This record gives sequence, structure tokens and C-alpha cells, in this order.
Amino acid sequence: MPQSVIFITGATSGFGAATARLFARQGWKVVATGRRQQRLEALRDECPEGSVLPLQMDVTDRQSIVDTVASLPPEFSPVKCLFNNAGLALGAKSMPDIRLEDWRTMAETNIMGLVHTTQEMLPQLKKAGRGASIINVGSVAGRFAYPGGNFYGASKAFVHHFSYELRCDLAGSDIRVTNFSPGMAKTEFTEVRTYGDKQANEDFYEGLKPILPEDVADIIWFIANIPAHLNINSLELMPLIQVPAIPKIVRD
Ligand SMILES: NC(=O)c1ccc[n+]([C@@H]2O[C@H](COP(=O)([O-])OP(=O)(O)OC[C@H]3O[C@@H](n4cnc5c(N)ncnc54)[C@H](OP(=O)(O)O)[C@@H]3O)[C@@H](O)[C@H]2O)c1
Repeated sequence: MPQSVIFITGATSGFGAATARLFARQGWKVVATGRRQQRLEALRDECPEGSVLPLQMDVTDRQSIVDTVASLPPEFSPVKCLFNNAGLALGAKSMPDIRLEDWRTMAETNIMGLVHTTQEMLPQLKKAGRGASIINVGSVAGRFAYPGGNFYGASKAFVHHFSYELRCDLAGSDIRVTNFSPGMAKTEFTEVRTYGDKQANEDFYEGLKPILPEDVADIIWFIANIPAHLNINSLELMPLIQVPAIPKIVRD
């Protein structure tokens, strides 16, 4: 039987890298994509030989997605699971102290990058047939607003709703769609959000037990491998130390 293939966006770090490692260990073929080619190659080298195909791809560049999907060799095709994971937050200030170019980058990455990758990948997933799935990474920020969450939270609310819309459009096909919404997780997310401040990243998680990338990989494995007649529509995950809080009260 041919090996199953997962296509991962944002495999150079965090959730994407951990998921690539787990699926490769479990005998899947992994198409690992992202902008940082050296990291993709390092990932390939640490995984079982022949299991990982590193392909540089920028989700904000539609042509890059088209070319990458078109270049998939037969051993890495058809793709059975699309892990739409690439994403980022930039800045954490409230309006109006925001940078519009950050909002544009979040829109192009978290929204249009995910949409374009999905569009290009649908023929692959259709070919894979029963058990195919799309797993979109949203966030608890898409459901719970917080000061400074602004565009990032809204972009993840888009991911949640778009996942449900996709479910409707794909009704009658074999393709499952899941919106996965994690809470606080320790990756490079905060370093990116603070424009490269590694210390801010460490300080943010100091003394806390956040979600780890390996926890997410286990959950993605579960979602991708449930029986083909089932669909997890949405899965929200928080570390125990985080709570779905009641709306904030502003006191004088
Ligand atoms: N960490 C959290 O607390 C948390 C919570 C909820 C949701 N999330 C979501 O989880 C997903 C993964 O984030 P993470 O926490 O694992 O953060 P991370 O460690 O910073 O990883 C983000 C990944 O996205 C990729 N990426 C960013 N822009 C890209 C672009 N233009 N083209 C291709 N790839 C791009 C990065 O790869 P390159 O830079 O190499 O391109 C990197 O591999 C994101 O969608 C994030 O919004 C994170």
C-alpha cells in the first residue's frame, strides 16, 4: 500500500516542525514547506531517510504555491492531509498604535495564504480519496478578543468560519475539514510577534506550562487518523493554566 502523504505549511518551526517529525516517524511521507530552506533541510536530515521532502514556499506568494504543488513527485503525491499551519501575529498594540503593513502581512499569510494553498491542494486531496483531510490552524484568539489581538484575532476568526464554509462546499466529497484552535503555546510565535525579541519570547512563558509543539503534533495525528466517515469540525485546545475568560470589566 502506498504511504500516506501530509503537506505542511510552516514546517520550519513550532507546530509544523513537530508535526512533520511525528508523521515521518510514523511512516508517512511529509512535504515540509516554509520560507527558511536551511531549516527544512535540517528537518529532512533528522527524519527517516526519504520521508521528508523540503520545499521552499512562501504562502504570501501565490505563484510559489502553484509551482510547489505542481512540482510534487509521484512518491509525495497524492496528498492525503493538508496541514494549513503557516501563520503569524505581528505586534500587540491596540488601535490606533498599529502598523498597517503588519496587518497586510497577517492578511496575506493567515488568510490569503491559507485560501490559496487550499485551492491549489484540492485536486490532490480529491485524488487521495477516502480519509483525506484539511486541518486549518485557527486560534483561541479567533473566539476570545483581547486588547492588541485586533487583526490577528480577526484573521483567526476567518480561519474558523472559512473551515465551516469549506465543509459545506466539499459536502459529498471524501475530504474532511477541521478548524484547530490552540491557546497559549511555546514556539517562536512570540519572538515573531515582537519582531525578533528572543528574550520577550522566553519571558512570556516564564514559570508557565504552555502547550508544547509535540502536544499539537499528537492532536494533528489524531485528527488526521480518525475513521474516514468522521469529521472533527472544530477542536479548541488550551493549557490548563489558561482559561476561557469572562469578558473584561473596565473600571475607572
Ligand atoms: N504559539 C501559539 O501560542 C499559537 C496559538 C494559537 C495559534 N497559533 C498558530 O499556530 C500556527 C503555527 O505557529 P507556531 O506557534 O508554530 O509559530 P512559529 O514557531 O513562529 O511557526 C510559524 C511557522 O509559519 C511559517 N510562516 C510564517 N509566514 C510564512 C510565509 N509567508 N510563508 C510560509 N510559511 C510562513 C514559518 O516559517 P518561515 O518563517 O520559515 O516561512 C514557521 O514555520 C500559526 O498559524 C499561529 O498563528 C499559535
